[in-house]
Amino acid sequence: MHNYPKINYIGNKDKIASWICEHIPEDVYTVLDAFSGGASVSYEAKKRGYKVFSNDIMLVNYNIAKALIENTKDILDSEDLDLIFSGIPQKGFMYFNYANKLYFSQECMELDLYAENLWVSSQYLL
Ligand SMILES: C[S@@+](CC[C@H](N)C(=O)[O-])C[C@H]1O[C@@H](n2cnc3c(N)ncnc32)[C@H](O)[C@@H]1O
Repeated sequence: MHNYPKINYIGNKDKIASWICEHIPEDVYTVLDAFSGGASVSYEAKKRGYKVFSNDIMLVNYNIAKALIENTKDILDSEDLDLIFSGIPQKGFMYFNYANKLYFSQECMELDLYAENLWVSSQYLL
């Protein structure tokens, strides 16, 4: 397994995930991460061979768990990354809702470009 990808998530337990898992009793084989957030605890548990169930009310966290915990075979390669990060930043949902509120305008436009690229590339998979 790869290293846990650093996710800038407030309240993440990345630094103590290993310590948490060390305290799981020996006769336990399944872990329920009921509020999985950025999935750092789930990831550490998966790495240690536990059967892991991750759960989170937020869609973004659900998708993180789906990609990092449920998924065991699909890994993005450099071609995928080139595709996701290619193009010219554009105005979209992030720009119109969050520019100069939570993020700078340029950051929003970059996120809008990546979202668009992901959307377009996902259409090829259907
Ligand atoms: C502090 S974060 C968890 C951080 C996580 N352990 C990590 O390492 O990234 C708490 C999480 O609980 C989720 N949450 C809050 N209420 C919830 C609920 N009722 N059902 C499921 N998830 C919930 C939030 O969306 C948030 O991601």
